[in-house]
Amino acid sequence: MWYDTDGRSFDSGEARDGPPSRPAAGKAEHKMENAMKAVQFSEYGGPEVLKLVEIDEPHAGPGQVRIAVRAAGVNPADWKRRAGYFRDFMPLEFPYTVGFEAAGIVDEIGEGVSGVSVGDAVFGLGSGATAEYAVLKSWAGKPEDMPFEVAGGLAVIAETAARSLDEAGAKAGDTVLLSGAAGGVGTAAIQIARARAMTVIGTASEPKHDYLRSLGAIPTTYGPGLADRVRDLAPEGVDVAIDIAGSDIIPELIGIVGDASRVLSIADFTAPEQGAKFSTTPQEHPERALEEAARLYSEGALRLKVERAFPLAQVGEAQALSETGHVTGKIVVTVDA
Ligand SMILES: NC(=O)c1ccc[n+]([C@@H]2O[C@H](COP(=O)([O-])OP(=O)(O)OC[C@H]3O[C@@H](n4cnc5c(N)ncnc54)[C@H](OP(=O)(O)O)[C@@H]3O)[C@@H](O)[C@H]2O)c1
Repeated sequence: MWYDTDGRSFDSGEARDGPPSRPAAGKAEHKMENAMKAVQFSEYGGPEVLKLVEIDEPHAGPGQVRIAVRAAGVNPADWKRRAGYFRDFMPLEFPYTVGFEAAGIVDEIGEGVSGVSVGDAVFGLGSGATAEYAVLKSWAGKPEDMPFEVAGGLAVIAETAARSLDEAGAKAGDTVLLSGAAGGVGTAAIQIARARAMTVIGTASEPKHDYLRSLGAIPTTYGPGLADRVRDLAPEGVDVAIDIAGSDIIPELIGIVGDASRVLSIADFTAPEQGAKFSTTPQEHPERALEEAARLYSEGALRLKVERAFPLAQVGEAQALSETGHVTGKIVVTVDA
């Protein structure tokens, strides 16, 4: 059962009406002057449908910034969309440019935007982000010591993790169970929850338990007997459970918490039918979660392991690795400066 975030998406064409950042080129030169490399697909299918193509650069519309991309994140939503999992309720317009998040250097500022300048390094959420230039609709300043590879993969997971904790009602002092804690969202959720003074129990396969411990979680394995293992680890009980992996686990999580209204899924859209909550984008102020993540990074309270960085030309391999479902931390794609 898979559902995914995507209120964050907006038509990439929408962003192309702003003023050009460079002097207008003659017609013959237009393609060279304003073209960029981007990863697109024009039919649903496997990684082989992904093509590195040259398309017109996007431009920052009102409320947006454009960045010269240095790194873009690879999320499960990328390959699920490409495979056509959402085609019935969210059909794509082809050609479709891949990617929801990126980090880079601001080179265009849309109407009505303040607090950011050309030349600033930022990371954030947008669409068509797996490209040399991307338009962001929410962003935060990149801490100086945060590598672009980390920043490029941080926005989706930070926003999702903060939103999930908020919507599940998790508060300081609570014990939170995260099912599927070793991937991108889990990595962010553990650290944000710890920074908000929560105790975190996270599930992952045994080889990843040291990784979970390094982030501040108490690890346990997923699979049969979870309720018993959690009871041993948290005899006082669990206040909130978040289903990150979408592994048909909601009834078990409701049993563990004892209150369906404090169980939330980001990956199983049948959660509401089972009495639990489901969370997806959009939220009103995603930039707040990005700012929180940047602050936690600067304080040393948040780190993101980049399992592997691929060049733009190898997005197919990057998505195939994501599709294995066993990424630790995040996969990103880098763009040469
Ligand atoms: N609704 C939203 O707003 C939203 C936003 C972002 C993501 N999502 C969805 O949330 C899900 C997680 O995203 P993500 O970026 O964290 O994915 P990810 O990085 O690919 O997560 C991979 C992790 O999942 C773990 N895992 C695999 N099977 C598991 C199971 N049965 N039980 C527990 N853990 C298991 C793996 O651990 P092991 O290797 O140890 O098995 C691996 O570390 C995806 O379905 C994604 O589409 C939804």
